[in-house]
Amino acid sequence: MSTITSFPPDFIWGAATASYQVEGAWDEDGKGESIWDCFSHMPGKIANGDTGDVASDHYHRWREDVALMEEMGLHAYRFSIAWPRLLPEGPALSGAKGRGRVNPAGLDFYNRLVDALLEIQIEPFITLYHWDLPQALQDQGGWPARATAEAFVEYADLASRTLGDRVRHWMTLNEPYVSAFVGYLEGRHAPGHSDLDEALAAAHHLLLAHGWAVPAIRRNSPDAQVGIALNLSGQTPASPSAADRAAAWRGDGILNRWFLDPLSARGYPPDIVQHYGRPMDFVQAGDLEAIAAPNDFLGMNYYSRRIVRNTEIPRAKNVPRTVFPNPEKTEMGWEVYPQGLYELLGRLHFDYRFPSLYVTENGAAYADQIGPDGRVDDPARVAYLKAHFTEAARAIAAGVPLRGYFVWSLMDNFEWAHGYSKRFGLVYVDYRTQRRVWKTSANWYRRVIAANAVVD
Ligand code: FCB
Repeated sequence: MSTITSFPPDFIWGAATASYQVEGAWDEDGKGESIWDCFSHMPGKIANGDTGDVASDHYHRWREDVALMEEMGLHAYRFSIAWPRLLPEGPALSGAKGRGRVNPAGLDFYNRLVDALLEIQIEPFITLYHWDLPQALQDQGGWPARATAEAFVEYADLASRTLGDRVRHWMTLNEPYVSAFVGYLEGRHAPGHSDLDEALAAAHHLLLAHGWAVPAIRRNSPDAQVGIALNLSGQTPASPSAADRAAAWRGDGILNRWFLDPLSARGYPPDIVQHYGRPMDFVQAGDLEAIAAPNDFLGMNYYSRRIVRNTEIPRAKNVPRTVFPNPEKTEMGWEVYPQGLYELLGRLHFDYRFPSLYVTENGAAYADQIGPDGRVDDPARVAYLKAHFTEAARAIAAGVPLRGYFVWSLMDNFEWAHGYSKRFGLVYVDYRTQRRVWKTSANWYRRVIAANAVVD
């Protein structure tokens, strides 16, 4: 059997970053504080006491980084706007309290970045919210408060009014699951809360913010494609027992269907509503219709799958595990499971019928080091990407409208609660000097893009 490894002629190859993870300059040029500035400054929250204060210093070195993208041959660059860099206090409209100050230096930064990208034919794909909420909005309740969704629409309107004449691809949110459940329930991310009702309300207001922002962006940028980026993972039962299968389906509902279903006009999945058993009284008339605003594309961030064992029944009552106990893992401890990408792409197309799809993030962390010869050799990352690109090609051949693929990440950066301890970049960053060093994977990716095919 021959492997299908080439891609359609107009396939978009890109790389992704996010504002808080790369920019640094956390308090420069009029930027307001974000929940991640505040959270990372709290002792004990981030590995090694790291913060995003400097990160990969992209705010100052963006020209050099754009040159890297050009050399790599990228067709597109996915990055996010730091909301508090545009609107230090959050909302755009001046309310009774006289808020709504726009920071011109923030607008200038993203204007210059977009212009520089377009000049060398790199298509900007903008994410409006990749987790750095203005702290001023968190102080008034954050995502569990409905007013935050209203403020988001003002921000989305400002950003798309400013950049919408040039930017053709917009994502409202990155991974609302993580914002809501890791931020407000697990507490591992900003703002670090542990409250299920807050998390459920946050998830709803994030979805609402998305649904309200879609028409605002379309108004300002009529030719634009608008979508959202979700983190999705298949849930594999650890054994064929009914108990494990039920637990896996529940896991699927919590992570995947809770977002996919309302976005696709199916409402919240009833089995999971019942599982949470909470009042959900934050859902108001018209909300579900707003959330179901049609998207031009769905972005999927894919890294791994979850293997689910039912832990509620005694082990003796379950059947033995049938999946491999020790799969190959990345430095994050995430199983390398490329087939999961193919399976999910198929599901998004054949079940949910999104008009087009992008892999908005895929990549792997490994313990990269600069070798004695000054090179960074990362064969494991090349193997990871090769296997995943091949699955993407297979999905396209099976009829999935996958239009593009963004490797996470362009360069090493601040990996949230892991700080700088996890390296996902195609390009290595020496944080002492901020020197960028191409990894083997970056050179290999350049050849993939040039050939528009998975090469050796
Ligand atoms: C995703 C995030 C991204 C990055 C990768 C590794 O969940 O969207 O910012 O941290 O994981």
